[in-house]
Amino acid sequence: MSVAAVMCVASLSAQKNELPIYLDENAPIEERVEDALQRMTLDEKIAFIHAQSKFSAPGVPRLGIPEVWCTDSSHGIREEVLWDKWSGADWTNDACTAFPGLVCLAATWDTEMASRYGVAIGEEARYRNKNVLLGPGVNIYRTPLCGRNHEYMGEDPYLVSTMTVPYIKGVQSNHVATCVKHFALNNQENRRHSTNVEISDRALYEIYLPAFKAATVDAGSWSIMGAYMKYKNQHCCHNQYLLNDILKGEWGWDGVVISDWGGTHDTHQAIYNGLDLEFGTWTDGLSQGRKNAYDSYHLADTLRSLVKSGDVPVEVLNDKVRRVLRLVFRTTMSANRPYGSFVSPEHSAAALAIAQGGIVLLKNENKVLPMNPSKVKKLLVVGDVATASMMKSGSSTTLKAKYEILPLDGIRAAYPEAEITYMKGYSPSKNDKVERVADIVAEAHKADAVIFFGGLYYRGGQDAEGVDRASMELPYGQDKIVEALCGANPNFAVVMVSGTGVAMPWKDKVPAIVQGWHCGSEAGTAISSVLTGEVNPSGKLPYTYYTNLEQCGAHALGDYPGDEKHHQVYRDDIFVGYRYIDREDITPNFPFGHGLSYTTFEYDNVRINRAKGTANSKFVVSVDVTNSGDVDGKEIVQLYVSAPKGDLPYRAVKELKGFAKVDLKAGETKTVNIPMDFSSLAYFDEQMHDWNVLPGTYKAIIGASSQDLRGEVSFEIK
Ligand code: BGC
Repeated sequence: MSVAAVMCVASLSAQKNELPIYLDENAPIEERVEDALQRMTLDEKIAFIHAQSKFSAPGVPRLGIPEVWCTDSSHGIREEVLWDKWSGADWTNDACTAFPGLVCLAATWDTEMASRYGVAIGEEARYRNKNVLLGPGVNIYRTPLCGRNHEYMGEDPYLVSTMTVPYIKGVQSNHVATCVKHFALNNQENRRHSTNVEISDRALYEIYLPAFKAATVDAGSWSIMGAYMKYKNQHCCHNQYLLNDILKGEWGWDGVVISDWGGTHDTHQAIYNGLDLEFGTWTDGLSQGRKNAYDSYHLADTLRSLVKSGDVPVEVLNDKVRRVLRLVFRTTMSANRPYGSFVSPEHSAAALAIAQGGIVLLKNENKVLPMNPSKVKKLLVVGDVATASMMKSGSSTTLKAKYEILPLDGIRAAYPEAEITYMKGYSPSKNDKVERVADIVAEAHKADAVIFFGGLYYRGGQDAEGVDRASMELPYGQDKIVEALCGANPNFAVVMVSGTGVAMPWKDKVPAIVQGWHCGSEAGTAISSVLTGEVNPSGKLPYTYYTNLEQCGAHALGDYPGDEKHHQVYRDDIFVGYRYIDREDITPNFPFGHGLSYTTFEYDNVRINRAKGTANSKFVVSVDVTNSGDVDGKEIVQLYVSAPKGDLPYRAVKELKGFAKVDLKAGETKTVNIPMDFSSLAYFDEQMHDWNVLPGTYKAIIGASSQDLRGEVSFEIK
């Protein structure tokens, strides 16, 4: 080696040695955090923990630490918006793949789908240079009226937790942080900024917190979003109990608490009660040409003065800065960061597979479905929803999709030989001239088969953020048309395009009903593939499909949506969804966990095996399942546990504690093994403030739904 070469190598290694630790991607994160922290000035620290625009925080430009860029939402990457406005920036390269709403993902009961979903949407976020994905939403479906049920994963804490973990791991495998939301108790949209929730510790820990714990502790979500609501009279974005005591204390979580947009209300609480990164505090900011209004955020100028004067210890500020630094080192400044991809064929395939796996066949009398394309020559399709785009909600779930296959497009492609008549029937626009009901019925008489598309739009008061629905009724007189079509043609199916349960006064008269969700870019292809039978439906309901509101605990017990002072006691306590239905022995329209197939499944020989020992015992509940029909299909086998009540004032009749989705060829039998932890038997003991397992006799119950129980086995806990 020449002298020059040796000198060159030497100076390179000197430079390498001089690389600040925080820039060394391979150094331990905590060392990088401490190194960066001690280099930052007070001004840089303050800037680092609040927004500089609608969706970004500034990083530390002097040190080369990049900006933090957040993006909505759980089911597609939102278009670019203006710096300081909600409105789109009119970019032409930001139209995304629209995935099905999370409620549809939950209806797949398929953890591999959840992982595939997370990986795909994480790739889209990464490609678009976003390092925080504002989702997934894991609030519990407490009332069918909640405007955001389509963004969440249903009523059961075990199901939501189990589906959340692979989704989060999938997103974060792209070095994009999930921001699981909305922590906590954002179970309604009405009065969401002002409602104070009063709830027992049991209901909080058993029903409303498990998915957040699974997201933060099990999946390791790198950030979380505070909710708009109040708990113990403090807004959840700066809440001593939820954020400091539970999330950062009991769960020992080291990630970033991000405020929901406009969810920060009190400077003292924002400083001390667990908030780390403030976003969306209302500001007219740059649009008014004033001094940057972001400086008047709670975690901005005021905090700087308080730290300077010594009124707030610098350690309080440093803790927030450390958390945001950790997020940056886990995402934008991480080693081996992938590049992502956008609107790829793989993402379309994932969106389609999730939709096909989540569509639920609710009812199918006389084998009306599938409607075979070779037999249907004349098809009548009714309903505006079949041709309506489901991308614009006017809120954080609004998407600009690269493409959207509408239901009617899907049907036309799936029935190429058929003569298809389309009638709108109803419309959200008063100016639309819809057909007379009598004319629709006359067409129905002439057709071989009739499909009615009904449901909810992404509009305020339907499936949308900000306000709940006023009732379970379908809008725009849809029920009248369905009623009129009953009896007009025996080959009649209703497809419900909605993210939540709706009233179906005609349910007993319509032979076939499909829950078709909001399925995104591939909606039309997914729905038509189920209608034709190309895909055998295999989704099951992640929530109870109530007949009316009286069947739902939150309404029956009378506290929703809270009193005139916006105080709401969750009197339904742990009795949410099927837990209330079981207790009161109610028959809803369709129970939690329900979903049919074009084949049938038989269950036999339920048994349980238990490993020796007690504290860390694992159980395996097994059952033999046979596809007893003549087409291949998938069955979701559900494990419920019925636990002894002991001296407890109340206990659920049974609770979901495991499930498996199994693929069975026609005639095939498989043994399905569902593992279950000892911890699944626990209830939250308010006196001990901890989980506790009672001795006594337990039952492991296997069901095809929460009301279609196929076998059980008892076991003792000593
Ligand atoms: C919503 C959040 C969303 C945020 C940013 C809020 O109104 O509650 O879910 O992520 O806006 O758009």
